[in-house]
Amino acid sequence: MKKINCNSCPIEVGDLEQSSFVDLLHNHYSSVRKVIIVDENTHDFCLEYLLTAFPTLEEAEVILLPTGEENKVMEVCFQVLEALSEYGIVRSDLIITLGGGVVSDMGGFIASIYKRGLDCIHIPTSLLGMVDASLGGKTGIDLGNYKNQIGTFHHPVAVFIDQRFLSTLPEEEWKSGFAEVLKHALVSDKEEWERLIASKQDELFSEENLALLLEKSVSIKSNVVTEDPTEKGKRKILNFGHTIGHAIEGYYLDLEPISHGNCVALGIIAEAYLSNKKGTLSTEDLHGIVQVIRALYPCPEDFLVGVSNIIELMKNDKKNDQQGIRMCFLDEIGSCSWNHLVDENDAKMALDYLYQAYYKN
Ligand SMILES: NC(=O)c1ccc[n+]([C@@H]2O[C@H](COP(=O)([O-])OP(=O)(O)OC[C@H]3O[C@@H](n4cnc5c(N)ncnc54)[C@H](O)[C@@H]3O)[C@@H](O)[C@H]2O)c1
Repeated sequence: MKKINCNSCPIEVGDLEQSSFVDLLHNHYSSVRKVIIVDENTHDFCLEYLLTAFPTLEEAEVILLPTGEENKVMEVCFQVLEALSEYGIVRSDLIITLGGGVVSDMGGFIASIYKRGLDCIHIPTSLLGMVDASLGGKTGIDLGNYKNQIGTFHHPVAVFIDQRFLSTLPEEEWKSGFAEVLKHALVSDKEEWERLIASKQDELFSEENLALLLEKSVSIKSNVVTEDPTEKGKRKILNFGHTIGHAIEGYYLDLEPISHGNCVALGIIAEAYLSNKKGTLSTEDLHGIVQVIRALYPCPEDFLVGVSNIIELMKNDKKNDQQGIRMCFLDEIGSCSWNHLVDENDAKMALDYLYQAYYKN
């Protein structure tokens, strides 16, 4: 069992049945009521194992969220809050999220506001949830097409990462999560980036290597979060690729949703381009990044039609201030700086570059 601390929140990577989840259920939370939040897929693929391995959870209330980013909205949160109230859940009870980033973002948010805050345990079931969304205490709900505009910082009591859940994860969701793994390496660990890009995907995702990949990626994020828990400074580097990535994700939300990780991967190309244009990242590194991302992730051919909408969405990004769009730039592979000011023209050039990278070479 690998134990990692993320701003005092214990993260355990390994077999859930050997983890301190057992002790928490049987001792700390033995007499409180439990609510398990799932979505339709984790209800079908993950819940049965949890209830069989931990029979005390059979008495838990199960709340089923509709699957997908388009449901990460306040309307669904209100329904869950009403259900908690109807079940008579009180502040000393426990919420357990069992799902990907949408479930941990919503479940974490609800846990942070219901009765002014309940304890919450995350059991992430997607790669993206394991390496990123369940860690660091950020919760997020979308507002229209604007991503994560509503949210809180609410650290879970603990996070348990067990790769057994990944056995049913669809291939495109593996790729989505891998984008955040690549981002973590890009912003703070050159050696890990080189290891990742030198390995074949099936080798990387073998049981043994996956354990290493999870540990490394979780450690990178946890170290950054511990240094800057409320994102006043360094934690912003974890947003590399996300200013443009979130805007692309928001734009396609009503059209044909594209996975979070795929959008972040496209954002990585566009923001690496700006890092190069502004003189921080070398052209050789930029080309290396483009090559890796292009081989793994598709880019919709029609996104330039929506450039003005995408730029509008960027202008509403949470990281901006009154002066304009703020972005992270790579200084080199493995090192990133934050709070760079970008204007609309830069943003447009970055989107043009993204298009060229896919369709003009
Ligand atoms: N709070 C944070 O710090 C943070 C960080 C990164 C991303 N996020 C958020 O996370 C979300 C993306 O996370 P995600 O990609 O996990 O999305 P998701 O929760 O929608 O999961 C992706 C898909 O995989 C399915 N799934 C999950 N686990 C499964 C399993 N074991 N077997 C079969 N299917 C399974 C889900 O039902 C869904 O269809 C976005 O909303 C993003 O904004 C939050």
